[in-house]
Amino acid sequence: MFGERLGHECPGYTRTALIRSAIPDVFRNTPASSAARTDVERVPFRDALKYGQLALNSRYLLSPLAGFTTLPFRRIVRRIGGVGLATTDLVNSRALTSRNERTMEMVETHPEDRPFAVQIFGSEPEVMADAAQLLVELGVDTIDINMGCPVNRIAGAGAGAGMMCNIDGTLKLVQTVVEAVSIPISVKMRLGWDSHNLSAPFFAREFEQVGVAAVAIHGRTREQGFGGTVSLPGIRAVVEAVENIPIIGNGDIRNVADAARMLKETGCHGISIGRAALANPWIFRQLVEWEQTGSYAPAGTFDERLQLMLQQYTCLEERHGSQRAIIRFRKMAHWYLKGMRILKRLRGDFQKVSTKEEMNAAIAEIQQSGPIDGNRTGVLTDVEIPVPSGPVDKW
Ligand SMILES: Cc1cc2nc3c(=O)[nH]c(=O)nc-3n(C[C@H](O)[C@H](O)[C@H](O)COP(=O)(O)O)c2cc1C
Repeated sequence: MFGERLGHECPGYTRTALIRSAIPDVFRNTPASSAARTDVERVPFRDALKYGQLALNSRYLLSPLAGFTTLPFRRIVRRIGGVGLATTDLVNSRALTSRNERTMEMVETHPEDRPFAVQIFGSEPEVMADAAQLLVELGVDTIDINMGCPVNRIAGAGAGAGMMCNIDGTLKLVQTVVEAVSIPISVKMRLGWDSHNLSAPFFAREFEQVGVAAVAIHGRTREQGFGGTVSLPGIRAVVEAVENIPIIGNGDIRNVADAARMLKETGCHGISIGRAALANPWIFRQLVEWEQTGSYAPAGTFDERLQLMLQQYTCLEERHGSQRAIIRFRKMAHWYLKGMRILKRLRGDFQKVSTKEEMNAAIAEIQQSGPIDGNRTGVLTDVEIPVPSGPVDKW
């Protein structure tokens, strides 16, 4: 049962995990084919998803992934289609109020990147409110408060998942932010601190009372990190705790079948997808196709993925010039290239490129070599996505 025991102590946390994420199962071991899939029964839907007055393009949202859900990636995923809302990586509210250069870059957007949310974290209500007001001036559509980050540096300072340990302070903080701005505020949190303290239903209900427009819920506790499984009953308890606001279910959605199960078993109004979007940026479009027609086209092929990767590089280059763009791009390219199932050696070579000429040469070799199984137009096998764990500085 999902109780609401609070007033607990928040223990320290470290763990390491490797989660196996996948290209949608239905594309595994199938011959090259562009045939639409009809293997997942449609779920009856309620109204379109709205955050307050803000109507979202679909009920499938890109979950923030620090270091990955940068503007170039958001633009690319949106070009494919189906994304209801995309959010920045978590942004430090204090750094935002002091207009730190790197932080201001994190909240940059583009006409392709709408509607657009910035996720902020912090533990000081006034600083969070000031940051929210600055974001309104910058034209952000909606703001998400991070209440789920498990990393010690953040949770230990009373922000992120640490907010679950301070009921009064958290309710005050969220209310202060809601009252400071007129755009919708959402909160993204976990089920609770640990299995004995499943406080998400309590918080969601309280947040609705102070005017929060939506709650996204990662169906794990802070103690779980990224281990174990996502609890669909846990998410359902949050859906049942609120009266009107939409609840967004999150965690381990890798394909249309996973999404259908989440929608059916939790009654959530929308879904946010993180890691699977790195393995399969087509997933949002597939979900919208499935919702509208009951069938959906396969994810991108080797050639399409290569095109996408180059488009993302171009977005980075436009902003930073080739030298900086190449260095920044290598991390993201790693995932594209993993998804394209190329030889490990070629992936390794790409990580060493530091000039445009070297990059072009590496891409030419990848293009010529193709995927390991030689299939440029169909099946792509599993991709392993290592998840950060414990105190990771990048978070
Ligand atoms: C590399 C990485 C970075 C993440 N960064 C953030 C973040 O900045 N803000 C946040 O709320 N959640 C963050 N998360 C959590 C994800 O948004 C999401 O809740 C979690 O990965 C479960 O969803 P998924 O299985 O669809 O990835 C991050 C997760 C990963 C793996």
